[in-house]
Amino acid sequence: MHEFKFIDNELCCERVRVSDIAKNVDTPFYLYSHKTLIDHYMKLKAAFRSIKPLICFSVKSNSNLAVLRALVKKDAGLDIVSGGELYRASLAGANPKRIVYAGVGKKQGEIRDAIKFGIHFFNVESEEEIRAIQGIARELNKKVNVAIRINPDVIPKTHSHIATGKGDTKFGLDFETAHKIFNSRWQYPNLDIKGLHIHIGSQILDARPFQEAIGKVLSFLKQNHIEAEYLNIGGGLGIVYAMEHPQTADHFAKNILPILKKTRLKIILEPGRFISGPSGILVTRVIYTKRTPRRNFLIVDSGMNDLLRPSLYAAYHKIVPVKSAEYDSSDLERVDVVGPICETGDFLAKDRLLSQAKSGDLLAVMGAGAYGFTMSSNYNSRPRGAEVMVIGARFHIVRRREAYKDLVRGETIPKALR
Ligand code: LLP
Repeated sequence: MHEFKFIDNELCCERVRVSDIAKNVDTPFYLYSHKTLIDHYMKLKAAFRSIKPLICFSVKSNSNLAVLRALVKKDAGLDIVSGGELYRASLAGANPKRIVYAGVGKKQGEIRDAIKFGIHFFNVESEEEIRAIQGIARELNKKVNVAIRINPDVIPKTHSHIATGKGDTKFGLDFETAHKIFNSRWQYPNLDIKGLHIHIGSQILDARPFQEAIGKVLSFLKQNHIEAEYLNIGGGLGIVYAMEHPQTADHFAKNILPILKKTRLKIILEPGRFISGPSGILVTRVIYTKRTPRRNFLIVDSGMNDLLRPSLYAAYHKIVPVKSAEYDSSDLERVDVVGPICETGDFLAKDRLLSQAKSGDLLAVMGAGAYGFTMSSNYNSRPRGAEVMVIGARFHIVRRREAYKDLVRGETIPKALR
């Protein structure tokens, strides 16, 4: 459930009409519902209340400061993957003791900053990385918590680009190498290697691959008599984009709690999409309609630079007219919704049956709160749109639309070329 609903044929976000926001904010813009965001975080928290896990929202799914702040205020932790995300976490007022840091390519400076900030865990993905963290921790004279990210070699049913728990991906360590690290803890006097981490992929609709991966990790611990205190089971919960029937937070918890409760491990979760995905839409305006002998196009003012998911993963996002009364439902036509970018792959939807639209109409691309703005770019020198958050009956611009000046920020023409 989310807070984007039609009231009197007008799409509303909580108690605000989307078209009213569009009168004040130029399109395209991302629009977030504060209530939906918090509701989804709370759903997970409630489903797992019997074990009180640390829930670290995955910043990469939506890193807007207002989004992070809203969740941090509800006591959420954060899952970060870069120095930039650490910077955002600090600006959002996150408690360092609720931050976990994954990623295969942490640079020395990033590791140093995270240690100084006092984060809860590094999720380590290679032997060289653990040696690097040890070296920097010694230099800083700090003791640092480390979890070994395991690649459990399971195959979740999802797009190949977002399946991370298969043995041939770059993520995590195989069981043998992990064992070797646990056996040589003495080599890392500044590290407390007391956790295991898995993240098997994203947009996973059922609990089986999670059960399989957690089962593998737990038998690894048991067989090798390894003492650990924490298990981070990653993110990956799927949401509804089209006709999927993803597991609810309660189903997910019901399916994996029995396994987790057999252990005394403290549990960490890293959901991103489940919380931010349903909480955001992309609002865009039809610039032109174009009918050709082969296809009909709605050319809108946002494209792959604003929302890359359709182009990159052939991802489906539902598209709805913001004012449905403008449309006669008997007047459906099959269209491609395309952006202004000069690439054939620039589309938001293909072969979609939509009510006939005309230039100037507003459309909403649903389920765009996760991996929407965070994956946007300035390709074709298009300024990124605003981000707006509705809280109850009011909307707030939480990132202003970029100006042309922003496009060239940091660029210089060398003297030799003047
Ligand atoms: N933890 C780790 C270590 C991750 O790499 C990710 C996502 C998450 C947690 C959060 O996963 P979630 O709960 O959001 O599924 N750009 C793609 C998704 C990439 C996911 C990358 N890792 C998309 O638009 O579908």
